[in-house]
Amino acid sequence: MKDIISVRDLSLEEIEHILKVASNMEGGTTPLLEGRMLGTLFFEPSTRTRLSFESAMRRLGGDVLGFASPTGTSVAKGESLADTIRTVGSYADIIAIRHPREGSARLAAEVSSRPVINAGDGSNQHPTQTLLDIYTIKKEKGKLNVRAALLGDLKYSRTVHSLAYALGLFGAELYLVSPRGLEMPPEAVKELEDIGSEVKETERLEDVLAKLDVLYVTRIQKERFPDPEEYEKVKGAYKVDSATLESASRGLILMHPLPRIDEISPEVDHMPQAKYFQQVRNAIPVRMATLALVAGVV
Ligand code: NCD
Repeated sequence: MKDIISVRDLSLEEIEHILKVASNMEGGTTPLLEGRMLGTLFFEPSTRTRLSFESAMRRLGGDVLGFASPTGTSVAKGESLADTIRTVGSYADIIAIRHPREGSARLAAEVSSRPVINAGDGSNQHPTQTLLDIYTIKKEKGKLNVRAALLGDLKYSRTVHSLAYALGLFGAELYLVSPRGLEMPPEAVKELEDIGSEVKETERLEDVLAKLDVLYVTRIQKERFPDPEEYEKVKGAYKVDSATLESASRGLILMHPLPRIDEISPEVDHMPQAKYFQQVRNAIPVRMATLALVAGVV
């Protein structure tokens, strides 16, 4: 495994292997990547993804260089992505890249002699978020063929585009719940059906809530709307609070890739269903596993 660009490049067996390696990384540090360097190239804002990659690399005995915004780099002078990647490849052994343009991570992998990990490309894919999401689901529910609802901005959220596919591979039943205009792109729904997933689309969470194992909430991706007025129409379209959870099944887990804006009320943070801060913590062993695997040391 050289690069991690899309969940579509991973087989079910490979995903299971990554989860197993991650579980061996839990709670520890190990000098597997001593003397190696990770380059974190973030052309878009990030808190968890960038910091957990850095933390994971250091826990593996490695070091990190990179940037959190392209403003102070030669990108501001007009340098191409390909040249930036070639340059960083001379200084780092692994590259993690987040970029607003879909397909940019694939392009980076094509020009890079170093392994490339996609830390989010536009609204396309965010494979390591998916790996930590399914790691969390497996840990909490003991299985991946769950009944899951993906709620919110299914049009622009890269996290759900990745996650839906991976859950589909594992035979999950998927409910796609979104405000009108933010539905999952039809070609993505078709792809899910093609891999044998049972998919139902609805605008009303109430209709499916009682039968769910997993409720995965997403933020409306304001920065991806071509027209700010369209955002104004859908913002605040849904909110999960303690009343929502009262009508849910007892075993439900509530997930969110974060950051949240107003779609999950902080009043549910202390409830046993809330697992989003668990997801934050699971980022460490999962990203340690992906770094070790692309570096070929496990
Ligand atoms: C997500 C992202 O960047 O796609 N954040 C993350 O990596 N955990 C979700 C989002 O920005 O809404």
